[in-house]
Amino acid sequence: MAAHLAQGASAFASATKAFNEKRRIGKLRARAAGAVRASADEPILLRAARGEQTERPPVWLMRQAGRYMAEFREYSNKYGFRHRSETAEIAIELSMQPWRAFKPDGVIMFSDILTPLPAMGVEFDVIKGKGPVIETPVRSMDAVKALKPLDDPDASLPFVREILSSLRKEIEGQSTMLGFVGSPWTLAAYSMEGRSDRHLLQTKQIMTQDPETLHAYLAHLAEALGVYVCHQIDCGAQVVQIFDSWAHHLSPTQFLEFSHPYNERVIEIVKAKHPDVPLIFHANGGAGKLHGLKRSSADVIGLDWNTSMAEAREVLGPDRVLQGNMDPMYLFAGRERIYEEVANNVRDAGESKHILNVGHGVVQGTPEESVGHFCDAARASVYAKATVRA
Ligand code: CP3
Repeated sequence: MAAHLAQGASAFASATKAFNEKRRIGKLRARAAGAVRASADEPILLRAARGEQTERPPVWLMRQAGRYMAEFREYSNKYGFRHRSETAEIAIELSMQPWRAFKPDGVIMFSDILTPLPAMGVEFDVIKGKGPVIETPVRSMDAVKALKPLDDPDASLPFVREILSSLRKEIEGQSTMLGFVGSPWTLAAYSMEGRSDRHLLQTKQIMTQDPETLHAYLAHLAEALGVYVCHQIDCGAQVVQIFDSWAHHLSPTQFLEFSHPYNERVIEIVKAKHPDVPLIFHANGGAGKLHGLKRSSADVIGLDWNTSMAEAREVLGPDRVLQGNMDPMYLFAGRERIYEEVANNVRDAGESKHILNVGHGVVQGTPEESVGHFCDAARASVYAKATVRA
C-alpha cells in the first residue's frame, strides 16, 4: 500500500474507533431514556439483526423474488426488468409473492443494486440472457466529475417511497422490511466494466494503472449510497443490506483499499442519522477476507456459501451477528436434505446471533416448495438456549 494510503488507513481506523465509541454511548443513552421501543413485539429478524437473543434463527433468502416462481415469470415474460422494478404496483406485487407463499421473516423490496445509477447519470438496462448492460461505462476522471450527486431521491427515484412504505404497511409486525444497496466497489466495477466480465478487465486496469480515478468514483458512490440508504430507511426499511457482490474480484489487500473504507463511509453516513437501524454487509468472496470483514462496523456480516460458518464464527467472534450461508443448490435436494443442512448451519453459527439465509441468491429452476421447506426448517430450529431461558 502506498504511504499516503497507509496513513489514510490508520487515520481512518482511529476515526472509526472514535465513531464506534460515540455510537455505543449514544445507544446506551437512548436505551436509558426509554427511546428504544420494548422489542418483544418487534419482528424476529429485526431483533436478531440488533444482536438480541432470539428463540430461533430468523430466515429470508437472497433473490427470494425471482424467476424460480411461476407467479413471477408471468410478469418477467411480459415486462422488462426496469419497468417491473420501477413501477411501484408491480414491484410491490413481486416482493409480496414469496411472502404470501413462504412467510419468510424478511421481505426485500423488488429492485436492483443498479437502480440508483440513472439518478447519478449512469443509464443501464437488463437484457434477457445477457444480464445488466451499461452502454456508456464510467472509465475516466472526466466521466466521474460529470456524475450527479444523489441529492433528491424522491425526485430522481420516485417509486422507492411508494414501494417501501406500502410493503411496510402490508407486513407490519409480521415480517421485517429489508432495503438494500450495492457496495461502492461493486457498483463502480459494474459501471466501469459495462457488462459482466470474468476478469473485470477494464476495472482492474483502471485499478492498477489509474487508481485515482477509481478512488474518486468510489468516493462519489459512497456519498450517494449513504443518502440512498437513509432515504430507504425514511421510506420504511427496517434493516438494510449492502451487497458487495463483486468482492471476489479483490485480493484481501485490495479489499482493504478499494472496498472496506467506502463501505465504512456508507455506514458512517447512515449511523449518524439512524444509529439504531441494523446494517448487513454481505461480501461474495468473503472466505479469504474474514480478517478484513472483522473490521467492518456493520451489525451483521453476510457470508457466501464458500465460507465455513464455524470458521467465520471463530474469526468474527461470539458477538457478531452472522447471516447465511447454505449452498442454494441444496434447495434442489429435497426436504430431508434441506433440514439436515439447515441444522448443520444453525449449529455451526452457535445457535445464537444468526440469520439463516442461502450463501448466494436462489437459482432459477429451484423447486418452489424447497424455499418453503427452507423457511419451515428455520421455524423448526428452536434454540436449546432459548428454551432454557424461557
Ligand atoms: O432478493 C430479492 O428478491 C430482491 C431482488 C434483487 C434483484 N437483484 C432482482 C433481480 C436483488 C437483491 C438484486 C441484487 C443484485 N443485482 C445483485 C446482488 C446479489 C448477488 O447476486 O450477489 C447483483 C450482482 C445484481 C445485478 C444483476 N441484476 C444481475 C446479475 C441480474 C441477473 C441477470 C440475469 O438476467 O440473470 C440482474 C437482474 C435481476 N435483478 C433479476 C432479478 C430477479 C433477474 C432478471 C429479471 O427478473 O428480469
